[in-house]
Order: sequence, then C-alpha cells, then structure tokens
Amino acid sequence: MALSVEGKHALITGAGSEGHANGYGAVDTGISLAFAQRLLQEGCSVVIGDLKLGAEAEALLGSYPHPPPAAGRPSAIFHKTDVTSWPQLASLFAAALAAFPTLDIVVPGAGLYDPPWSSFWQPPRTATNPDSASRDKADGEFGHYAVIDVNLVAPIRMSQLAIGHWTKRGQRGCIVHVGSVAGYLAEAASPLYFASKHGLHGFVRSLGDLRDELGIRTGIWYQDPGRADEILQGCKWLTVDEIVQAMFDLTVKAEYGNGTILEVTPGATRVVPMFNAPPPKPGAVHMPAMGAFHEKLFDDLRSSGLDV
Ligand SMILES: NC(=O)c1ccc[n+]([C@@H]2O[C@H](COP(=O)([O-])OP(=O)(O)OC[C@H]3O[C@@H](n4cnc5c(N)ncnc54)[C@H](O)[C@@H]3O)[C@@H](O)[C@H]2O)c1
Ligand SMILES: *[C@@H]1O[C@H](CO)[C@@H](O)[C@H](O)[C@H]1NC(C)=O
Repeated sequence: MALSVEGKHALITGAGSEGHANGYGAVDTGISLAFAQRLLQEGCSVVIGDLKLGAEAEALLGSYPHPPPAAGRPSAIFHKTDVTSWPQLASLFAAALAAFPTLDIVVPGAGLYDPPWSSFWQPPRTATNPDSASRDKADGEFGHYAVIDVNLVAPIRMSQLAIGHWTKRGQRGCIVHVGSVAGYLAEAASPLYFASKHGLHGFVRSLGDLRDELGIRTGIWYQDPGRADEILQGCKWLTVDEIVQAMFDLTVKAEYGNGTILEVTPGATRVVPMFNAPPPKPGAVHMPAMGAFHEKLFDDLRSSGLDV
C-alpha cells in the first residue's frame, strides 16, 4: 500500500538551485528543486532551505504562495540557510514549524561535487601552498572540509533534528537522503566526494530499524554519476523525471524506508542489498573521460608531489 503526501509538510534543502543542463545529455542538476515541485503538485507543502533562491525556484514559490489562498492547498516558503551552520539549520526547522503545524518529510538535498575550493587535491592554503584554490582552512580549529560538511554532516544533523521532532511528538516521519554511486564505488579523482557519500550511505543503512520500531522511514536515492564536468563526458544520463519518480517512490512505497538504498541507473532500478551486492549493471556507471583525468592526476603527483 502506498502512503500519501497530500496535506503533508516537507523540508528540503538545496532546492533553491536553478538547475542547469550539463551539455552532454539529459541530466540536469536541480534535483532538489524538481523534487520540491513534485511534492507541491501532489499536495504537499514545502519549506526550501538554500544559500540562494534562483529564478526557477522563485517562480515555484510564486505559484504556491504562503499562506495559501484557499484552505487545504499546499504552499511553499523559502528560508535562507547555509546548511554547514548548525544555528542556521535550527533556524530553518524553527521557521518551518512557525509556518506549518508539523513536518512529515525531510530531504537534505543540498550537495557539492568536489568544487576546486574544497577538493582533496587542492589542500587548504598554507605558507608552502599559497596558490591553492581551497577555501577550507588549514588552521581551522576544528578542521573542516566543506564537501564533508555539506554532503555528510548537515544531512546527519538534519536527521537528528527531524527524529527529535517526530519522537517527541509520537509522530511518523520520512527522511529521503540523496546518495550516489560514489557511496560504494571508489575514485582517486574525487576522494572527498566519495568519502562523503560512503559515509551517508552507512548512516542511512544504520537508521534502517527506525521504520519498524518508530514509523520513521529512511532511505537514500542514488543514481549513476552526472554533473556538468568534462570528466563525465559520454556518460549515460538519467532524466530529472526518472530521478524525481524514484525519490517519490522512496517516500510513499510501504516496502521502502528501512534504510533502503534505491539505485536508479538508465533503464534499471533496484534495491541494493545490504551484503554482497552485485555491481551496478555493466555500462551503467561508465565515465569514459575519467581515465585521462586520473592519469594526469598521478603524473602530476609523481612529478611535482602534493603541496600542503
Ligand atoms: N547531478 C547529478 O547527476 C547527481 C548525481 C548523483 C548525486 N547527486 C546528488 O544530488 C544532490 C543535489 O545535487 P544537484 O546535482 O541537484 O546539485 P545542484 O547544484 O543543482 O543543487 C545543489 C544545491 O545545494 C545548494 N547548496 C550548496 N551548498 C550549500 C550550503 N552550504 N547551504 C545550503 N545550500 C547549499 C546549492 O545552492 C544548490 O542549490 C547532491 O547531494 C549531489 O551529490 C547529483
Ligand atoms: C526492509 O523491509 C523489507 C520489507 O518491507 C524487507 O523485505 C527487507 O528485508 C528489510 N530490509 C532490512 C535490511 O531489514
């Protein structure tokens, strides 16, 4: 039996994104925004947390004004949030609960794919490494990598806040995380991104028992990699609709939600088993230009070493 999202309330980060075609095929970014739109279409109100609000997201908010013009209609609000700030995350939850009676669905969708300013191969700037593009701080006390903070720490903190809300109210809830094949493959080009997704997959699996014990569903949607990046040229792409459908299924299908990892690759969807999972379908994860990138990385490391 499927659950319904109608009349429910969702909090979703990363949905302020414009989304942009990657130039190689169908996949756009803007996954969270597309999911927010789907939830609203299904009658679920939405709170968007993001650094900024793009034109498309602003138009979506315009179509679902808050408070709604007629009772019972879904509405949407935006709360400017940097998810790496725990006070701002708390303020996001407070703003959501000031606007709506409760929260039923939480989607930590904000994510970073190894930007130069937080990439393992651009170590934090020091006297011996003055030209690094990194904005992570070498003298950080405590030390931080932004990619880990956005992709892993923030989703964990949001889950904690959501579970607190639901257990204190004796209420059911659902958390949909955004994973990646990076959650169980390995790649030297983007070790921080891969580590963040491995961590997230383990976190989601670990909360699997909450469904049957507490009625709190947790799941992760993941797809083959895609991003507007030259190393991904030639990949097969999913459409945003396929992605959004998988995230929606994760939210409403009763058989999911116990730490389910729902893998969606072009033409194939499966629940990834906990142990001895066969690799994704041959060809589903295919990054033809990665080889050259990989080779250059090791050439550079052999010839110049890594400045830290
Ligand atoms: N695009 C893909 O092909 C793909 C593949 C696998 C996984 N994913 C995952 O999907 C998720 C969304 O990615 P996307 O491709 O839609 O990206 P996107 O760039 O469209 O959206 C990411 C959003 O996160 C927001 N964000 C970044 N840092 C933030 C911060 N500190 N605080 C608040 N918001 C912040 C950005 O402003 C942006 O709106 C990520 O977790 C990503 O790893 C994407
Ligand atoms: C999750 O629940 C489904 C049925 O709803 C069950 O078949 C599956 O074994 C469960 N998975 C785990 C890891 O408990």
